[in-house]
Amino acid sequence: MAKVRQVELKAFTTLKVGGPAELWEVDDEADLREATAEPYRVIGAGSNLLVADEGVCDRVIRLGRPFNDMASFGDRADLWLGAATPLPGLVRRAQRAGLSGLEGLLGVPAVVGGAVAMNAGTRFGEMSDTLQEVELFVNGGLERVPAEALNLAYRHAELPAGAVITRVRLKFTPSTPEQVQTAMDAVDAARAGQPKVKSAGCAFKNPAGDSAGRIIDQAGLKGLRVGDAMVAHEHGNFVLNLGAATSADVEELLAQVQARVPVPLQMEWRRWGC
Ligand code: FAD
Ligand code: EPU
Repeated sequence: MAKVRQVELKAFTTLKVGGPAELWEVDDEADLREATAEPYRVIGAGSNLLVADEGVCDRVIRLGRPFNDMASFGDRADLWLGAATPLPGLVRRAQRAGLSGLEGLLGVPAVVGGAVAMNAGTRFGEMSDTLQEVELFVNGGLERVPAEALNLAYRHAELPAGAVITRVRLKFTPSTPEQVQTAMDAVDAARAGQPKVKSAGCAFKNPAGDSAGRIIDQAGLKGLRVGDAMVAHEHGNFVLNLGAATSADVEELLAQVQARVPVPLQMEWRRWGC
């Protein structure tokens, strides 16, 4: 049976904002069937979410330990992994095994399912580079779908309505630990200027050929603050929670930023509310 509890979603997001919800932790297909009997949404590592202070009316489904295959990750170049496997650990393990393909995702604090749902990445690589197939829980059962069916593009994936990613098949390119480490060092260097405090990464997508961070910086908005929500000094596209920010603070800050930049910026974060 699915484990159900009332939570404050701020505890499940990296931005540390967000109100109450019913959290359904699922361990298998039967749990998924039970949890999806009423309106629901799926949470991964909560690293790309802006959740309303009022919380979420839908059930919030989280994949439990059986969907975390970190422990069984070996040195196979082509393998299935549960969607709750943490991406940072996987990036590390792949490097140690001399498997290339995920090193561009160094520093993305996702779980595998959330990384596929967002096609997370950097200019050094994205999930679509390794993704071959996904297993989805959809229409009450499990289905396997080729990666191409998701139309993966920059921070974009198309999932069938209501689909929960349960497992993913990744294919790495055999390399050496040293070569993968060298590639990771370049990613690390590119991320060196990003802030380390509570955030949900970049708030806005980059307009084609430009950086939203640069645009916000150019508009003189670094350090702009509403309550405890602030545009980072280190990088214009990072909105930080300095401690006690509410979702309302963050929303007001985002609105001010959007009103003061010369081009329209599209949100990368997913907004959750009732
Ligand atoms: P969540 O934030 O929990 O969810 C994101 C979306 O995916 C939601 O719509 C959710 O419903 C859906 N989802 C999650 N799991 C599933 C599932 N199993 N099935 C179906 N749908 C699902 N992103 C980048 O792309 N590049 C970066 O360089 C980057 N850097 C970051 C740095 C920091 C410090 C932080 C905090 C975030 C950063 N991000 C970056 C943003 C974030 O890590 C990514 O968007 C990531 O893919 C979100 O994964 P998650 O598991 O946290 O998903
Ligand atoms: N820049 C500024 N001021 C700033 C920020 C950036 O002038 O405040 C300039 C930089 O000097 C550089 C250019 O803009 O010339 C690009 O900056 P950066 O290398 O930091 O990359 P970005 O385009 O701003 C993207 C992703 C990040 C990812 C990095 C590293 C988006 C929205 N952002 O940022 O992804 O980590 O590249 O590859 O695509 C995320 O999606 O959450 C995220 C953090």
